[in-house]
Amino acid sequence: MNSKLFQQHINSLTDYYAEALALHREQGGRLEALLVHSGSAAFYFADDRAIPFQAYGHYLHWLPINKPDQFAYYVPGQKPIYFQIIPDDYWHDQNIENVSWWANSFQIIRLRSTSEITKQIPNSQTGYLGPNAAMALEIGIESRAINPQGIIDYLNYQRAYKSSYEVAQLKEANRLALVGHITARQTFLSGGSEYDIHMAYLNACAMLEEESPYTNIVALDKNAAVLHYQQKNKNRPNISKVLLIDAGCRVNGYSSDVTRTSAKRTVNETFKELLAGMEIIEQELVLLLKPSIAYPEIHLTALKKIGQLLIDLAICGGTADELLENEIPQLFMPHGVGHLLGIQVHDVGGHQQNISGKIKLPPNHSPNLRNTRKLNKGMVFTIEPGCYFIPLLLEPERTTKRGSVINWKLIDELYPCGGIRVEDNVLITSNGVENLTRQYE
Ligand code: GLY
Ligand code: MN
Ligand code: MN
Repeated sequence: MNSKLFQQHINSLTDYYAEALALHREQGGRLEALLVHSGSAAFYFADDRAIPFQAYGHYLHWLPINKPDQFAYYVPGQKPIYFQIIPDDYWHDQNIENVSWWANSFQIIRLRSTSEITKQIPNSQTGYLGPNAAMALEIGIESRAINPQGIIDYLNYQRAYKSSYEVAQLKEANRLALVGHITARQTFLSGGSEYDIHMAYLNACAMLEEESPYTNIVALDKNAAVLHYQQKNKNRPNISKVLLIDAGCRVNGYSSDVTRTSAKRTVNETFKELLAGMEIIEQELVLLLKPSIAYPEIHLTALKKIGQLLIDLAICGGTADELLENEIPQLFMPHGVGHLLGIQVHDVGGHQQNISGKIKLPPNHSPNLRNTRKLNKGMVFTIEPGCYFIPLLLEPERTTKRGSVINWKLIDELYPCGGIRVEDNVLITSNGVENLTRQYE
């Protein structure tokens, strides 16, 4: 790993934190330093078994160590400090390897318990960012200094812009995911179950399930109509014709989020054409991306294109504009066309319009759209158009005026195919876009 690239990332993060604190003080705040906590272990109810841990995003922005009770400490003008808590514990391996590419960017202070932090932070004007308010109080942080909203708003907004280091992690997370996707497709074509495909994906990426950035969606046939389908059926249905797999990888805390849909040659002919059409739509949408476009415009274009495809394949009648007016494409794609991506799969700040936390909600016709921002250089997000045959959404329209444009005979034939999603991860450049996923196919 390139330590220079990481140091540049830490330098830009340091600038963000300095500005966040400066703005905070301009607005009457008194904080002079920030302590960013990874979070604490959580346990299942009435059990001594820990829930798989996932560190807080703003902490992972500093440190690629996904462990509970680790702290980054920022004081303007000083090298950032990493309070590395290594408890005395003979039940678990608590060792953390301080690898030079990231470790050199910190002053590392090893402690045995969080209670030892108090005397390490003499500055009484320290703010705490993290999920454990009770621990922050114990450390000696004032309650008004716990997760100050102005600072969180500022940092959430800036998380959308990725440093070169972050882009490199996201690229590697895409490269790895594609290795998994190729193996998953082969396992599907040779008759594997959802479970077989899931395990083949994990194995190809050499990762544990708890290391994945989200629960793999491995859906055969009609299960592909469940947007976040979570089961892994172990039956081997030799007759399965469609695979929708939405699965990513995580590299140093950064996530990829990739979906591929595959169909066997024997699949319904209209579905085959729908899949080919969706692949084209996805690529066309990516090519539209450049700085200053508002993301909701891309979403609207996706709905229009999907409407036209439904008409071209006689799944719907009328014109694309009529379908849009009656919100028919949303019956087939009820999710947004994408979302910010980074440390979190659905990364923070997607509705935020400025550093002060001004929110722009999605349009009424698409309440699930997670990104309403204007595109700018350095942003990473997904483009993921889809088309699903979801009985819960379609059936209530079978007898309505709105539903009269839908070819119900064809819908009945398409229900067993489930649905389609094609999802890539993209980076906005100074004058266009870089597809972080396709470069590995
Ligand atoms: N993997 C969840 C999503 O695509 O948003
Ligand atoms: Mn996604
Ligand atoms: Mn996805």
